Amino acid sequence: MSTGQYKDKIVLGDGLRILKKLEADSVDLVITSPPYFQQRDYGNGLLGIGNEETEQEYLDNLLAIFFECVRVTKPTGTIVYNVGDKYIQGGLRLLPYRFAAKVIESEKVFLVNDIKWMKLNPTPRQDKRKLIQSTEPFFIFTKSKQYYFDLSSYLKHLDVLNRSRNSKPSNKLGKKYFELIDKSDLSEDEKNKAKKKLKAAIQSVFAGEISSFRMKIRGIHKLAYGGQAGGRNNQIINNGFTIIKIRGDKLKRDVIESPVEITKDNKHPAVYPLYIVQELIKLLSQAGAIVLDPFVGSGTTCLAARNLGRHYIGIDINPEYVELANNRLKGSNYQHELFL
Ligand SMILES: C[S@@+](CC[C@H](N)C(=O)[O-])C[C@H]1O[C@@H](n2cnc3c(N)ncnc32)[C@H](O)[C@@H]1O
Repeated sequence: MSTGQYKDKIVLGDGLRILKKLEADSVDLVITSPPYFQQRDYGNGLLGIGNEETEQEYLDNLLAIFFECVRVTKPTGTIVYNVGDKYIQGGLRLLPYRFAAKVIESEKVFLVNDIKWMKLNPTPRQDKRKLIQSTEPFFIFTKSKQYYFDLSSYLKHLDVLNRSRNSKPSNKLGKKYFELIDKSDLSEDEKNKAKKKLKAAIQSVFAGEISSFRMKIRGIHKLAYGGQAGGRNNQIINNGFTIIKIRGDKLKRDVIESPVEITKDNKHPAVYPLYIVQELIKLLSQAGAIVLDPFVGSGTTCLAARNLGRHYIGIDINPEYVELANNRLKGSNYQHELFL
């Protein structure tokens, strides 16, 4: 069977076995959340992932499925894994990060983001000597640097927020930088050039081309430190200043807030938020794309994909969940599932 034959279907079976049947480079996006280690009974007996005796076996099984996902993903595609951690004998095991570290060591993919899901309604703990665990990572891995990424479609409501905050730039915009340029030990020529560029940046804000900017001036501001500092530091050293333009996406950080999904009418014990999946699908795929979830559970990924005009392929080892996912897809309509 080829990938096309699985399109828009929830398939019953072991993820690894089914993935092997899909063609290489045929899926645009994988979004999934594998079972926790020895945490929940998904009704799979000893068959499913998560029931292993050791953490190493669990990680090996996760990795085997992950690398099949890599194989079936297009070079422009993305693989998103949401992995939960576990306390064993009172200590966290860092399973998500041990998984991610192994993936990175393989050098088959790039980890472009480690998004933190901030749970707005985390499970309260009885243990008075630990804080409530309220975050989980969503790792975004890509096969190449040419991955599809549509930032403008992600968390669009934040753009509206940004626009309203920036609708009337202050008349004092940039004033402090003019003063700092005058105070600096830049040459007259450098000062003139810095002021000219500063005026242009202010005009760009008033024209709505950028939402804001920061300026760094030699001798006044510290040089940047770390990752992408090189180019900026050269500008500061050689020209005396640099201007960092801030587009309308300044609130789009690697954090996403959402409550744990309320499981009314959904018997699956570990449903992840439709809201997060929906935003990631908008960020990482175009209409018509194929979105795959090899641990589909109650079908959240497929529902979000279908609602957004993408194709889906879901796999689960438990027949009850395959039925649940199919019923959820049949019974839902866009408004109900996305906004309730
Ligand atoms: C954390 S749940 C996924 C829940 C899903 N994200 C949702 O929103 O409903 C993990 C699922 O993986 C399934 N599973 C476990 N081992 C599997 C395997 N080897 N192949 C396919 N599915 C498996 C379980 O039955 C369970 O439904």
